[in-house]
Amino acid sequence: MDATVRRSQHWFGAEGRSGMLYRSWMRNQGHGPEVFDGRPVIGIASTWSELAPCNAHLDRVAEAVKRGVWQAGGFPLVFPVMATGETLMRPTAMLYRNLIALVGEELIRANPLDGVVLLSGCDKTTPGLLMAAASVDLPTIMVTGGPMLNGKFRGADVGSGTHVWRFEAEVKAGRMSVAECAIAEGGMARSNGHCMTMGTASTMACVAEALGMQLPGSAAWPAVDARRYETAQAAGQRIVALVEEDLRPSAILTHGAFHNAIRANAAIGGSTNAVVHLLALAGRVGVDLRLDDFDRLVREVPTLADLMPSGRFLMEDFCYAGGLPVVLRRLSEAGLLDDAALTVTGDTVAANVATAECWNDEVIRTVAEPLQPAGSGTAVLRGNLCPDGAVLKQSAATPELLVHEGRAVVFDSPEDYHAVCDDDDLDISATDVIIVRGAGPKGYPGMPEVANVPIPTRLLRQGVTDMVRISDGRMSGTGFGTVVLHVSPESAVGGPLALVRTGDRIRLDVPARTLDVVLTDAELAERAAQWSAAGHTADTSGYRWLYREHVLQADAGADFDFLVGRRGAAVPRDSH
Ligand code: FES
Ligand code: MG
Repeated sequence: MDATVRRSQHWFGAEGRSGMLYRSWMRNQGHGPEVFDGRPVIGIASTWSELAPCNAHLDRVAEAVKRGVWQAGGFPLVFPVMATGETLMRPTAMLYRNLIALVGEELIRANPLDGVVLLSGCDKTTPGLLMAAASVDLPTIMVTGGPMLNGKFRGADVGSGTHVWRFEAEVKAGRMSVAECAIAEGGMARSNGHCMTMGTASTMACVAEALGMQLPGSAAWPAVDARRYETAQAAGQRIVALVEEDLRPSAILTHGAFHNAIRANAAIGGSTNAVVHLLALAGRVGVDLRLDDFDRLVREVPTLADLMPSGRFLMEDFCYAGGLPVVLRRLSEAGLLDDAALTVTGDTVAANVATAECWNDEVIRTVAEPLQPAGSGTAVLRGNLCPDGAVLKQSAATPELLVHEGRAVVFDSPEDYHAVCDDDDLDISATDVIIVRGAGPKGYPGMPEVANVPIPTRLLRQGVTDMVRISDGRMSGTGFGTVVLHVSPESAVGGPLALVRTGDRIRLDVPARTLDVVLTDAELAERAAQWSAAGHTADTSGYRWLYREHVLQADAGADFDFLVGRRGAAVPRDSH
C-alpha cells in the first residue's frame, strides 16, 4: 500500500471494477458519493448486545459517536464485535476475552478504516477491544459505556456484585429472608450501564482513561447521564483529528502509560483483574511489564477512592466528586504519575488533569488523608506454593489475616467446595485455609471468578466474616475477602497448588510477600513425581481446545501465545 494515501482510499478511492465494488454496495445505505472523497473513515467497534446487559445501551452511545464523527468531517461506520457479559456467559466470560481481541483485531484490519472508536462496558469487553486495537495500531479512542446509577435497597446504597456476596451471606446466616433478598435484587441494577462498584468494569474504564486511551473524565459518567453522550460525541470529533495527527496507540501505550494505569488502579482500590488484563495488553504492544512491577509500583500509592468493595461509595458518587481526573491530579502532585505520558487528547496526562477539581474529599480522599495508607494495594506473593506469583488485594482483605498460618482444606474444583460448604459436619474451622484449585486458565478453562468462595455456612452463623482462601482462579472485581488469586503455575499444569493435601500447613505473610506450604523441596518433588495430568478434561476440538492449547498462564496475562505482539494494519492482498 502507498503510505502517502489514506488507508481507506485504497478501497474507496480505487479505480475500475474494485472501486465500484467497494463504493457501490456502501451506497445501499443511502450514502452519497461525497463520503468517498478521502475523508477519514472511522470504524465504531461496538460490543452492544442484549445478552450483555451492561452493554445493552451501546447502540445509543454509538449514535452519539457517529454524530461527532460527522461533525468533524469523518465518515462513521458502526460494526459489531462480539460482546461478553459477565453475568450470563458460562463457563466464564474470561474464556472469550481473547476471542473478542481476535475478532476485533481482524475486523479492524480487514476493513477500510483509518481510525477506530472502541465501545465497551462489561468487564472483558474493555481489555479485549484494547488488545485488538493495540495489535493493529490504527489511531484509536475508547468510549466506555458508563456505570449504572447507584443501587438502592431500603434507602441505602447497594453495590452491584459486592452486595450479591453480602446478601448471600446474610441469607445464609439467617439475618435476611429470601423474600427480602428478592426485593433487593430488583434494586441492585436500576439503569443501563455496567457495575457501579469499583469492580472490573469500572476499574478497566478508569484504567483505559489512565492509560490515555479515553478522554479525561470519561470513565465515571453514569450510562444514563447526558454527559455520557456528550463525551461520546466529543470522542467522535476527536478521533477524526487523531487520524489527521496520525497519533496511534503505540505512541500512547508506553511504559509510562502502564505505570500510570497501575498506580491509578491502586489509588481507586481497583480490581485484581486489571493485573491480568494489563499484562496481556503490554504483551500486545511490546512493553516489558512483569507481575512484580505491580507490587513495586503500588507500594508508594495510598488508596484515595472510598468505593465498594474496598470502601463505602459507588461510581455515581465518584463521578460527582470529580472522577478519575481528580485521582490522577492528586497522584501527579504527589510525584506518583509519569506526567509526560501522552493521551488521546494529544496532551500529556498531567496537562489533562492539571485543573481537575474535587467536589467531595470524602469520596476521593487526599494523599495526606487517604482511605488506606500507601502499601495497601494489590500485593504480589511468591513462595513454594506460587513460584510464578499470586496476587492479593489488601484493601479488600481482613488486616488480621494478612499474616496467617493454618491447615489447608483442599478442593479440586469450585463445585467440590460448593457441594459441601453448607454441611454442618464439614470438618473446617475459621483458622483453616480453603484451597480451591482447578480454576486456572487451562484448568477450568478460562480462569473464572470463583476464588472468593463463600465462608462455610456453619462458620457464617457463628459470625465468621472472612477466612484465607487460595485459588488459581480470579475474583470478581466486586468481591472482597482475604483471597489469594491467580496462583501460577496453575494446578492443571502441575503447579505446586496441585500437590497440596488437606492437613498441610499453609503460611501466608503478605507484608513479606510470601505464600508457602510447609513442605520441603524433597517432599514437593516426591509428590510432583506422583502427579499426573490425567483427570483433567482434554477438549479435542472446538474453541475450548484452541483455548487450552494456546492460553498463557496468569502471570503472562492469559493471552493466547499466538496473539502476543503487534501485527499492524497492512493487508497484503485485494479481495477481488
Ligand atoms: Fe457487567 Fe459487572 S456484570 S460490569
Ligand atoms: Mg467480573
